[in-house]
Amino acid sequence: MINKGYDDSFIERLKFNNDIISTIGKYVTLNQKGKTHWGNCPFHSEKTPSFAVNGMEQFYHCFGCGESGDVIRFIEKIENVDFMTAIKILADAAGMEVPSFVGDDNVKEKKEKKDLLVKANKDAAIYYNKMLYTEKGKDALNYLTGRGLNKEAINKFGLGASIDWLDMVNYMKRLGYNEQTLQEAGLADKGEKGGFYDIMAERIMFPIINSFGEVIGFSARAIKDGKFAKYRNTAQTLVFDKSKVVYGIDLLKKLKRAENFDEVIIVEGQMDTIAMHNAGFSNTVACMGTALTKYHAKELKRFTDKIIVSFDGDTAGQKATFRSLEILEEENLKVYVISLPEKLDPDEFIKNYGKEAYQKLLDEALPLNDYKLKAIASEFDLDDNIERIKFIDKALEEIRLLKSINEREIYLKQLSEKTRVDVNTLQRDLEYKIFTSSQTQNSGQGVEEQPKAKDASFRSEEFILASILHKKPYAELLDKNIFKNSSHNKLYEFILKSQNLGKEIKIGDVFIAFDTQKDEGIKDIINYNFDAINNTEKYFRECVKNLQLEVLLKKQQDIIAQIQNTDVKEQKILLMQKLSELTKQINIQKKTN
Ligand code: GTP
Ligand code: MN
Repeated sequence: MINKGYDDSFIERLKFNNDIISTIGKYVTLNQKGKTHWGNCPFHSEKTPSFAVNGMEQFYHCFGCGESGDVIRFIEKIENVDFMTAIKILADAAGMEVPSFVGDDNVKEKKEKKDLLVKANKDAAIYYNKMLYTEKGKDALNYLTGRGLNKEAINKFGLGASIDWLDMVNYMKRLGYNEQTLQEAGLADKGEKGGFYDIMAERIMFPIINSFGEVIGFSARAIKDGKFAKYRNTAQTLVFDKSKVVYGIDLLKKLKRAENFDEVIIVEGQMDTIAMHNAGFSNTVACMGTALTKYHAKELKRFTDKIIVSFDGDTAGQKATFRSLEILEEENLKVYVISLPEKLDPDEFIKNYGKEAYQKLLDEALPLNDYKLKAIASEFDLDDNIERIKFIDKALEEIRLLKSINEREIYLKQLSEKTRVDVNTLQRDLEYKIFTSSQTQNSGQGVEEQPKAKDASFRSEEFILASILHKKPYAELLDKNIFKNSSHNKLYEFILKSQNLGKEIKIGDVFIAFDTQKDEGIKDIINYNFDAINNTEKYFRECVKNLQLEVLLKKQQDIIAQIQNTDVKEQKILLMQKLSELTKQINIQKKTN
């Protein structure tokens, strides 16, 4: 059977090969207690673990924030990707091929479009690379050689040249691409006088490749510094989003397979990345000159826990950069910072001082908070009392935001040493700051929305299904599907069907068969809180009886309606007999309750 575009048997194998405990274990520290593994929920901030992972049932559920799902849903959430990409990530981890997508026409169409755009970008990249070695690509090649890149480096990064405004477009058309595709791929655009032209004309081409090895766009550098922007990047397309791509991530992934590295170095530019690789620091990637986003952080988190930030000497100390680096920390990456002297970038630094000098900077990289404190201090003259007080205020503002008391203590000590102010005094100032900020935060909070009340039969249905799904010993299957709510009805059909196939379903299976994000009813069943019920076994029996009674009452009403609607005497008599039998049954049912 096909669910969400993939064959059941594929999904089953995929999940089997990506056990939920070990997959989640890569992101969350889990401790086993009985059948359940517990950890701090990665989807909301908490100090005591309420995030439960159930290996038998292959699902997770956070009792704090209510998030739940199977291993695929977990990857969707934590990596911030769609279902298909989550499938891709898991297949990749298990060394499995992803079968072609079937089903939903819209999704299928979009996937085909994406595939086409990726293919166009790849063909363009191959073309640009070839051009580098032609007569018309000579200037570009000379430029790169002039910057110290040999053929090996050029090909490792797939660099190329756009030789003019038209050649790429014509070439791609000969390959069979139409203008619309070239435009949607971000390669070409319509000129003012009509006709399509290469957006990156006369530039050096840096293909941008994602972690799946797909070319999704380009960054292009002007050969001569002049009136045009030094770099141009592909605009946002269906496959390219600058705020999400990490330059060099494909090479990092290959490196990870070949050898283990502890840390990843992040620089600002493509040329910096290449220079770093050339100097032997192949664990380097770049953020393409943009502010870091949580997407970058998540992408990096897949390969490392520790990031060394090596931005240009002139940007590293800036406020925007701090925020950027905090985003990395928010994704639980350990962040270290290198400061480069004289406004140099890593490429220039290595050219001027050599790779040994750079290695020394790496060894001396400061943890983000140390670096911040140092950077803030550098703004003030600490021998001047007024300036010193300003510095303390600004530094405490940063310390206030630290998560743990331990961290705060460490930096208070540092601040005390730097300013020669007693640490207890600083502590009191800090506490006052924390107090005043919590005061302003608490006011003006909205009223919580009231959930809609569920009626008795809805609640009975919910409890029965939850008991069956959670395999409670008292939970027996009903002889008939008597669920009124359509989600409940579908879920029960699903359970019965598996049962008939002789298959015991896992809760994790439900996330594939149903859209638990949209279907709150099913989600509530998965997340059912059994603790709220005293005698669950007795309650189960009551719920079943309630539903059976409701079925009878419904029948009773139908018959009454039929009696009122018929003029045929014999029929009426027959119906009356039925009614009295039914009424007896109802009375019995009511009594035994
Ligand atoms: P080189 O001058 O070739 O050494 O590049 P660089 O990496 O030293 O450049 P810089 O530090 O100025 O920029 C870092 C990154 O920001 C580049 O690699 C680009 O991705 C991006 N960038 C730089 N200039 C521009 C620009 O004018 N427009 C856009 N969109 N991006 C730019
Ligand atoms: Mn540079």
